[in-house]
Amino acid sequence: MDWGLRNRFSSILQPATGRCVMLAVDHGYFQGPTTGLEQPGRVIKPLLPYADALMLTRGVLRNCVDPAARVPIVLRVSGGTSVLKDDLSDEELTVSMEEAIRLNAACVTMSIFVGSPHEKASLTNLGRLVDEAQGYGLPVLAVTAVGKEMVRDARYLSLACRIAAELGAHFVKTYYCEGFEKVVGGCPVPVIIAGGKKIEEREALKLAYHAVRDGAAGVDMGRNIFQSQWPVEMIRAVRTIVHDNKTDTQAWDTLKPAR
Ligand code: 5RP
Repeated sequence: MDWGLRNRFSSILQPATGRCVMLAVDHGYFQGPTTGLEQPGRVIKPLLPYADALMLTRGVLRNCVDPAARVPIVLRVSGGTSVLKDDLSDEELTVSMEEAIRLNAACVTMSIFVGSPHEKASLTNLGRLVDEAQGYGLPVLAVTAVGKEMVRDARYLSLACRIAAELGAHFVKTYYCEGFEKVVGGCPVPVIIAGGKKIEEREALKLAYHAVRDGAAGVDMGRNIFQSQWPVEMIRAVRTIVHDNKTDTQAWDTLKPAR
């Protein structure tokens, strides 16, 4: 890795812990105005001080985030589908690397769809993105998307994460599952987890704790933060798990004043 790439990477995975709390607010790129994220600017602003990085599209970045914000940007550069289609795997690269640099992105990200009808295109797009991003010193985060029919088990997620790493992704985002340590153990680059659908706050903290305990280098969490009735308290509680090695019970205790 060259200096610029390492510098950008270390702005996301914090050198003190090797982990990150990334806030995911890119859902609109195929879901439109996702519940809780109808007005991204309002949602993002109070959470920014507690996010190590912000994952989003260029449209939301340009229109809803203060350019004076100091947060590293993980720019989604894939898209081309919507929830109106049954098959969400038909994505392409949607942003050039020159544009990513103009937007001062710290990292670029795209989804791969292992086992889906467009598996090959998404994987070759990842290879192309790694090549192009490398030329600008930009790290690449691969997101292992799962189709409706795909099981989120250790066997499948290990396969998808390993393929992403083999194709050159610098880190991978996936889902937590039983046997998650096997997913991490079989992947030569750091693995972070998505939060998934909104669940009870207590359960979301447990998910984050189990993931970190089993080797995740942090979280890229969206709905379980911005759809929570206590978004700021939730992201702060997640930080205690990721960066201070607190348990889910200890993190839950920090929510007491809000509950
Ligand atoms: C969609 C994404 C989202 O950013 C991701 O799913 C994280 O958000 P959440 O915690 O709400 O699942 O990459 O492909």
